[in-house]
Amino acid sequence: MAKPKREILIVGNWKTNPSTLGAARKLFLEIRDRMKMRMPAVSVVIVPPTPFIADLARLSPSGRIALGAQTVSPYDDGAHTGETAASMLASVSARYVVVGHSERRALGEDDATIATAVRAAMKRKLITILCVGETTRDKQGSYFTTVETQLTAALSGLPKASLGNLVVAYEPVWAIGTGNTATPEDAHEMKLFIQKVLVDQFGRTAAEKIRIIYGGSVNPKNASALLTDGAVDGFLVGGASLRASDFISIIHAARDHA
Ligand code: PGA
Repeated sequence: MAKPKREILIVGNWKTNPSTLGAARKLFLEIRDRMKMRMPAVSVVIVPPTPFIADLARLSPSGRIALGAQTVSPYDDGAHTGETAASMLASVSARYVVVGHSERRALGEDDATIATAVRAAMKRKLITILCVGETTRDKQGSYFTTVETQLTAALSGLPKASLGNLVVAYEPVWAIGTGNTATPEDAHEMKLFIQKVLVDQFGRTAAEKIRIIYGGSVNPKNASALLTDGAVDGFLVGGASLRASDFISIIHAARDHA
């Protein structure tokens, strides 16, 4: 597949951290102020807990750091206690949303719910980061089938016109929060596989619009090699995004690569 030059996407997934708005503001400002200026070739996104999105968005009015949510309801509105709809996220300046993270799948989110949530997010023009990834790796390579099944279930029938707003995050579950990062070669192999599945599903021209990023124990030491040899289009960063200096180092690795 031809490789159009595109922005690298660095997304910090804060998960259920930090515990107060005050601490979230402090961390956000530390990252914002250390970034100094917008880097044209790198898009930086922070995905904080949902109650903090609106407040943090006001701290970056120029959009130097974009905001996103960690999940979105499959429902547009109505009697669904506890759900947050895509329209609500968009109305508090969230531009991105993560869908199908393995920690949500572990809580019971199934493929059908994830597929509906992807459509709900797309309808509101949120840039949708769909997470896929195997729990374990076996010698027979059945992890490829796992990833293909997750992709097909979440995306089949999606209008081609919406694919520019889609990002696929390959996040092997065994790499998340463990320090066991996928090797750049393994990340690259899976990126090529995901591209092939997307081309089969949508055709080459449409599939080329979809960025493929990597997540799972990304840190300042492994970021450059994953970008250069793994050839991924960016990262979904968990633990390291809670340490401003580490997150900035990863952003700088992306800037230097771009
Ligand atoms: P990690 O998390 O960087 O802490 O491994 C990544 C993620 O869960 O998105």
